[in-house]
Amino acid sequence: MKNMIDLLAKELQEAFAAAGYDGSYGRVTVSNRPDLCEYQCNGAMAGAKAYKKAPIMIANDVVEKLQDSSVFSQVQAVNPGFINLKVKEEFLADYLKQMDADEHLGVAQAEQPKTIMIDYGGPNVAKPLHVGHLRSAIIGESIKRLGRFMGHKVIGDVHLGDWGLQMGLIITELRHRQPDLVYFQEDYEGEYPTEAPFTISELEEIYPAASAKSKEDEAYKEDAMEATHKLQQGNPGYMALWNHILNVSVTDLKKNYEKLNVTFDLWKKESDAQPYIPDMVQYLKDEGYAHLDQGALVVDVKEETDTKEIPPCMILKSDGASLYNTTDLATIVERMKLFHPDEIIYVVDKRQELYFTQVFRCARKAKLVEEDTGLFFLGFGTMNGKDGKPFKTRQGGVMRLENLIGEINEEMYQKIVENQNRNVQSEDAKATAQVVGLAAIKYGDLSNQATKDYVFDVDRFTSFEGDTGPYILYTIVRIKSILSRYMEEGGNPQECCMKGASSDSEKALMLELSKFNGVIESAYQEKAPHKICSYIYDVANAFNHFYHETKILGEEDVEKKQSWIALLVFARKVLEVCIDILGFSAPERM
Ligand code: ARG
Repeated sequence: MKNMIDLLAKELQEAFAAAGYDGSYGRVTVSNRPDLCEYQCNGAMAGAKAYKKAPIMIANDVVEKLQDSSVFSQVQAVNPGFINLKVKEEFLADYLKQMDADEHLGVAQAEQPKTIMIDYGGPNVAKPLHVGHLRSAIIGESIKRLGRFMGHKVIGDVHLGDWGLQMGLIITELRHRQPDLVYFQEDYEGEYPTEAPFTISELEEIYPAASAKSKEDEAYKEDAMEATHKLQQGNPGYMALWNHILNVSVTDLKKNYEKLNVTFDLWKKESDAQPYIPDMVQYLKDEGYAHLDQGALVVDVKEETDTKEIPPCMILKSDGASLYNTTDLATIVERMKLFHPDEIIYVVDKRQELYFTQVFRCARKAKLVEEDTGLFFLGFGTMNGKDGKPFKTRQGGVMRLENLIGEINEEMYQKIVENQNRNVQSEDAKATAQVVGLAAIKYGDLSNQATKDYVFDVDRFTSFEGDTGPYILYTIVRIKSILSRYMEEGGNPQECCMKGASSDSEKALMLELSKFNGVIESAYQEKAPHKICSYIYDVANAFNHFYHETKILGEEDVEKKQSWIALLVFARKVLEVCIDILGFSAPERM
C-alpha cells in the first residue's frame, strides 16, 4: 500500500503537469503550520526560477487544477507561493480502512526479501550482564523485529565473547582455589564430571577476583595468559572447564535476556569462528592482502580520502596469536559460508567504531564478502546516570542488569499501587509492574537516537506523563478499557466501521494514524527505532486530546459512536504493533 504522503504527492505531481509544469515539483510534506493546513507543497517556490515566474502564479495554476480533487478538501495558494492542503475526511477514513484490512497495516512487504544478520547482545561469558550490554540488546532486538515486519529474513546472533583472556583468568583462579580438581591433572584419562565445579554466583565472583589479582600480580597474569593459550590449543582439562563455564553462563544469560523480552536465533560464540582462522590467514597471505609488519601480520586498510589515520588491521600478533579482529573476520567468513547474508548489522558500543571500520575495510578489500554485501555498524552511545557519568550503582560500582531491572520494577510497583484507586491485588500489581517497567526501560532507551549518549533517569522513565513508555501503555490501557465498557454495554467493536471525522481532534488522530507505514519504512531505512517512539508519542497525544474532548460512550448518535469505536480499535492496533516492534507489550490494566 502506498504511503499517504506519496499518494498526496501523486495528486500534486499530476496537477503540476496538467498546469504545464514539471511534475517533479509536486513534492508534499507534513505541514509546519498545523494551524493552517495538514500538508503542504512548496514546489511552486522551487519552480519559480526555472519558469521565470512568481511562485504565487505557479501555485495558483496548480491549485486551479485541484479544484475537483477527490483527495483534498482544501487546496490554497498563499503568498509567497505555498500550497496549503487539507485532506478529505472520506478519503482519510477510506485510507485507514484499507490499512486496517491489511495484515501489515499498509506497510509494503519487501519484494526481494533480504537475509539480514544482526550481531547484538555481545555479552561475555562468565561476566555478569551489566548495563553496557543493555543498549545492544534493546536496540538490536527492535532492529530485528523491524526488519521482519518489513518482510525480510532476519537472523539475530548473540555472538558470545568466550575466547578471550577472561577464560584463562577464571581457569587460573580455579586452579588456585581447587588445585586438586581432575581438570588440572596432566595425566588424567577418565571422563570429566558432567556437573560444573561452581555455580553461577560463584562464577560471577571468581571473574572479578581473578581480574583484580591479574592487575596487581604480574606472575598471576602470565599464568592466566598461559592458561588462555593452553585452552586455545585444546588442552582437554581446560576444554572441559571451558564447557562448564559456557553452560552455566549461558543458562543464566538466557534467563536474563528472557526478562528483557530479547531472544536470539543463534547462540554463536567467538570460539565457533576459530576453525576458520587458519585457512583465512593462509588466503590473506597467498593473495597478497596481508603482509608482515614488525613481525605481525597486517592488512593495510587506509584509503586516499581518509581525513584521519586508519591504522592497519592486525591479523596475527608477532607471537602468532590471533586477536579480536581475527575472530571478527573469521566470523564474517563463517557467516558468509553458513547463511550468505545480504547484510550484517553490528549493534555495538560506538567506541568500537574505528575498530569496525578496520574490520569492514579488510573484509571488503580481501573479498571475504561479496561486493554488494552490506556491512553496517550501528554504534550506540553511553547510558549515563543523572550526574552525566556512566551509570553506576549507588555505591559507585558497575550496575548489574538484573539489579537495574529490579530497581525499575520496584519503582513501577509503587507508582501503580499509588495510582490505582481500586484495591489491587499485590501479585497483580507486581506482574503489571514488570510489564510496565520493561516498557519504561526500553522506551527510555529507544526514544533517543541510538548514537547519542543519554541519561538514564529512573524518575522520568517511570512517569505516567510525558514522553515515556508508561504514558504510551497508559494510553493503550485507556483505549482497552473504553472498548471493554462498550462490550459490557452489549456493543461489538468488530461490527463498527470508521466514517469521516466529526471534530478536529478526531481528524487529527486519524491523520496521525495514517502516517504509520511511512514512519515504519523510514525507521527501517535509517535503522532508527527512535522514530517509532516519537510517532507513538504523537499518536498517544492525539488520542488523549480526542478522548478529553469527546464523550465516546455517552454519544447518542449510534453511527457516530460506532465510528469512534472503530477508530479506537484501529488506534490500539497501530500502537500495539509499534510497541511490539520496539520489544515490549501492554498490560490489561495499570
Ligand atoms: N563482547 C564484546 C564486548 O563486550 C562485544 C561484541 C560485539 N560484536 C562483535 N562482533 N565484535 O565488548
